[in-house]
Amino acid sequence: MPITLKSPSQIELLRQSGQLVRATFEILREHIRPGISTAELDAIAEEYIRKHGAEPVYKGYVPRGRRGWPSTPPFPATICASVNDVICHGIPSPKERLRQGDIIGIDIGLRLNGWIGDACETFAVGEVDEPTRRLLETARRCLELGIEQAYPGKTLGDIGAAIQRHAEARGFAIVREYTGHGLGRNLHEEPTVLHFGEPGTGRKIMAGMVFTIEPMVNAGSPETKLERDGWTVRTADGRRSAQFEHTLAITDDGPLLLTA
Ligand code: MF3
Ligand code: CO
Repeated sequence: MPITLKSPSQIELLRQSGQLVRATFEILREHIRPGISTAELDAIAEEYIRKHGAEPVYKGYVPRGRRGWPSTPPFPATICASVNDVICHGIPSPKERLRQGDIIGIDIGLRLNGWIGDACETFAVGEVDEPTRRLLETARRCLELGIEQAYPGKTLGDIGAAIQRHAEARGFAIVREYTGHGLGRNLHEEPTVLHFGEPGTGRKIMAGMVFTIEPMVNAGSPETKLERDGWTVRTADGRRSAQFEHTLAITDDGPLLLTA
């Protein structure tokens, strides 16, 4: 599949979707505290998204290429809720209640007027310990450093290299198995955006591209393990992982954040 470049008017529609994702985070932020369940957060997000004329896109989603694989059921919820050692794709549950000192990655994808918005943020539940603060700060900075490379004429390898370099310099590890992606009318389009790599390699970045950058930063080893539910991805060593994601459009002047 080739990369479809987006026109300024399409980018404006994508920005409106991204802004609804952002607004949903602002609602959820007020509810993130010890005692709330991840299923309650999911219900709040779904209601807010639908009330604003949009629909969740993760709900019912079956990954491309895994279609028909019986061990991967459709994703059952509006948000991914990934607590502590869950790297990504955590399934919200009424049995999982947040506790003081936890971290929770919340990933939101929606479709508004036909166009997708997608972002992820990791929140501290109350006060977290110093190593966890450092993990959050590093993951956030990795995303920023990736975005700073997103200029026409640079390459996707420049983005991945900047992210990997910072994470590893701080003693953390980048997850390899899950990537950023192009998006538009579909959640997952070309290109695949790696969060590691070599400067100057990979596809050239061009004005009109729209894609996510969503590094997952592990406190310990980069290894992952997939739970038997077919979705929940945990660190193999049980240590924590943090993720931040933005959708951005490439303009002649550089990156335009659609979900900020
Ligand atoms: N932000 C992630 C991604 O775009 C979330 C996907 S959740 C899924 O890959 F359910 F849609 F797979
Ligand atoms: Co994404």
